[in-house]
Amino acid sequence: MVATGSHCAFLVFSKIISTGSYLPEKILTNDDLSKFVDTSDEWIRTRSGIRSRHIAADFEATSDLAVAAANNALQAAGLAASDIDLLIVATTTPDVIFPSTACIVQDKLGANKAAAFDIQAVCSGFVYALSVADKMVASGAHQNALIIGAEIYSRILNWKDRTTCVLFGDGAGAVVLTQSEAPGILATKLHADGSRRNILNVPGHVRNGIVYGDPHVHMDGPAVFKMAVNVMADVCVETLAMANMTAADIDWLVPHQANVRIIDATGKRLGVPPEKTIVTVQGQGNTSAASIPLALDTSVRDGRIKSGDLVQTVAVGGGFTWGSALIRW
Ligand code: UT7
Repeated sequence: MVATGSHCAFLVFSKIISTGSYLPEKILTNDDLSKFVDTSDEWIRTRSGIRSRHIAADFEATSDLAVAAANNALQAAGLAASDIDLLIVATTTPDVIFPSTACIVQDKLGANKAAAFDIQAVCSGFVYALSVADKMVASGAHQNALIIGAEIYSRILNWKDRTTCVLFGDGAGAVVLTQSEAPGILATKLHADGSRRNILNVPGHVRNGIVYGDPHVHMDGPAVFKMAVNVMADVCVETLAMANMTAADIDWLVPHQANVRIIDATGKRLGVPPEKTIVTVQGQGNTSAASIPLALDTSVRDGRIKSGDLVQTVAVGGGFTWGSALIRW
């Protein structure tokens, strides 16, 4: 592919050059939860691996979490907000119906040269956003993209429903993606099956100023579990094949952090051992679109993911949506 932009006469690819993240200060443990909902630390840990999650303060909006993660990623990249010309926020919990959270983040950051929009693919949102941004940067149309996954799920949970409220948390993660002569994003593959939209959703909606239906997360846990385990390894294999690679080439598997049992099953089906799999769900719960960039930031900063490593991300979420991105770090 040859870019036609005046500044790029070389083959253009996109590459992640930095990561950042933000977790709200307040931590809610399983024991805290068991004081107001009929559950136990033992049940939550054995079924999901989760021990605690972060909860946003009343004064924090999703855009605030996103801005904190973005500033962290910009600092690591050595870039200013004004260097960003594409800003995508993956979120299912936007500040308001419109404008997009990305436009609010653009203003708060001062990224005034950036095109800005949201992507709504629930827990697959970050992988969807990364795939879209890769195409926009690799075409030569955009130079520096900021891709953020940010969520405040605590505001769409029914805190009396023990089957959902124990599983989710709040947070944000971000990456900076820039033009590169060497390939960074090697392949991406996205899927959706709207016929399965009812197994994980927020059915409530606003019409003429009135909320109709329940505006909280509803989930058929076992159906989601089965679907996730089936599709995650498959889309990894599909993405690896696009790059003429196999699971043996993977240095780090960074799956959506919903549940350790789903992560373990995906690793087993794919043939990636636990020591090559990044798991952060224990202290964060399921942060939906934020979970993969949060996990990337953790493992880059603690030195596990290093330059040159082959990293495979894979996500699954409401919609139903799923997808994978294969990344040369
Ligand atoms: O991004 C994707 C987001 N979603 C997911 O990743 C969720 C995927 N699903 C799962 O991870 C699992 O299905 C769950 C963790 C949600 C549930 O685990 P499970 O082994 O499938 O349990 P279950 O739903 O079959 O429920 C088993 C029992 C039920 O009691 P009975 O009917 O057997 O008496 C539930 O009522 O556990 C009960 N239960 C709880 N007990 C204590 C459900 N939630 C809780 C709870 N505490 N929080």
